[in-house]
Amino acid sequence: MIDELSKTSQSPERPLAQPAIRILGIESSCDETAAAVVENGRVILSSMVASQVDLHAQFGGVFPEVASRQHIRTIYPIIESALQQAHIGLGELDAIAVTRGPGLPGSLVIGINTAKGLALGSGLPLIGVNHLEAHIYSAWLNWPPVSDSTATITTPEPRFPIVALIVSGGHTELVFMPDHLHYQRLGATLDDAAGEAFDKVARLIGLAYPGGPSIQKASEGGNPRQFSFPRAWLEDSWSFSFSGLKTAVLREVRKLQEQNRELPVADLAASFQAAVVDVLVGKTVRAAQKLEAAEILIVGGVSANQALREAIQAQAPCPVHIPPILLCTDNAAMIACAGHYRYTSGQRDPLSMDVLPNWPLTEV
Ligand code: KG4
Ligand code: ZN
Repeated sequence: MIDELSKTSQSPERPLAQPAIRILGIESSCDETAAAVVENGRVILSSMVASQVDLHAQFGGVFPEVASRQHIRTIYPIIESALQQAHIGLGELDAIAVTRGPGLPGSLVIGINTAKGLALGSGLPLIGVNHLEAHIYSAWLNWPPVSDSTATITTPEPRFPIVALIVSGGHTELVFMPDHLHYQRLGATLDDAAGEAFDKVARLIGLAYPGGPSIQKASEGGNPRQFSFPRAWLEDSWSFSFSGLKTAVLREVRKLQEQNRELPVADLAASFQAAVVDVLVGKTVRAAQKLEAAEILIVGGVSANQALREAIQAQAPCPVHIPPILLCTDNAAMIACAGHYRYTSGQRDPLSMDVLPNWPLTEV
């Protein structure tokens, strides 16, 4: 204590170092069981993800009951690994943040009950996090990871006002974010989410689940202009629609099959991907122009898509931040990061907190 005071008096211009805030994040909303420790909202001390992709591939999509049972098997080992890798004990944490929704009810319950047990046993505060808000906050995480918050953080902090496009397997939302923790929904999908469309179209053209990475790979050898699939611009609206596009691919596939022709998988994949990317990028760019955004964020599983990343970078009227691939798909570092901003804003949730499987971002 005396040392600290004497150091301060020698260099009065330096602010007193704030103690680091360390949050354990837990994610189990869909088919990834994940745990992470994040310091001061930006520094990833550990991030562990146990994917169930192989387990669900045989069903061509996520099988909810199988997902819940697998979360039960994996959740404690994954939390233990995250704490071990961060060289931290429960007693050195400041709070436990857990995904409260949206997501599969049975999967959310596993994460939330585990978090409650840990909070009860350790006396740490519990924070319920919205999964969509966490995808947005993945843009605040520093990458590549550094050892602790005294190291230089290289990823610049996003600047407000922000236009964020959340594109995942369950959601496609265009959001205006004037400041931390404030959201105005500009538009959302009227039918399929973008990731869902990738998954369904992949199945139609005989590609493996999950469809996004399969379609991206197949597209590499394809011509994106071979098929002119429809773009649902839905004029005067920020909403999206992908079901017409999916039906157009289905019709083309049926036509080719009736003619006994081999499916030109690469061209179908590339043309479909181009149609999705055109609409996602076109609407995001227009929203950023209209709202004079200082920055665009593209987050969620589909933001891993290379064609989308290149197109938005080429067309945006302002800087674009897209997290590295490992932070685009579901992970717990983003839960801990959003949990940090919730924690510092004073949020504490009771042990009676329930899951919210349909929790809109605008109601956080
Ligand atoms: O965010 P996420 O991991 O889980 C949800 O919250 O839904 O997103 C998963 C979705 C899946 O639909 C998957 O096909 C899609 O993200 N995805 C991609 C790519 N990687 C994952 N879509 C297009 N291109 C990719 N490279
Ligand atoms: Zn997600």
